[in-house]
Amino acid sequence: MAVRASKRKPELKLVLSRGQISNRVQELGSQISQELSDRELVVIGVLKGAFVFMSDLVRALEMPLQLEFVRLKSYGLDTASSGEVSITKDVEPEIRLMGKHVLLIEDIVDTGLTLAFLKDHLARHKPASIKICALIDKLERRERLVELDYVGFTVKKGFLVGYGLDAAENYRHLPDIYELRA
Ligand code: IMP
Ligand code: MG
Repeated sequence: MAVRASKRKPELKLVLSRGQISNRVQELGSQISQELSDRELVVIGVLKGAFVFMSDLVRALEMPLQLEFVRLKSYGLDTASSGEVSITKDVEPEIRLMGKHVLLIEDIVDTGLTLAFLKDHLARHKPASIKICALIDKLERRERLVELDYVGFTVKKGFLVGYGLDAAENYRHLPDIYELRA
């Protein structure tokens, strides 16, 4: 007999309020502005999830910088990682990374496979340095150790949505972050 998906509306439990997020993003901006003050940065956001965080964070950075985006495919429309990562939008050729300082912006780190892959990929362009800033470090399912230079919040587990984070492309526009409970 076929099992039908539950029609129940998923429950959203508030995890991080817009006020908490905004305070932490300002703190991260100040810290990065101080620690990397002598560098000209190329800030690279991982689409789509990082777009809200990145737009707030870059406005709290005080050094000269350029913006770029990459798009990766790893999760599809499911909440479980496929374990495979591929690039669907790479760095544009006019953004020359060689000799530049890269700040990579990610929404959430789960298994670590996405960032490990992306860091290796970007290293091939021979930038002077690559720093990673993730809004959320989710510890439960880490498979690849990647050094995170700046982290907004650490959570143990749970599937989070809002502030750029999605579940099957929904909820990205919510100003707060929630745990999705099916
Ligand atoms: P990783 O490769 O397993 O570290 O997964 C990273 C990517 O999976 C992130 O860029 C997110 O797009 C997605 N992801 C992981 N956990 C969550 C979550 O709790 N909510 C929404 N997206 C997630
Ligand atoms: Mg995603």
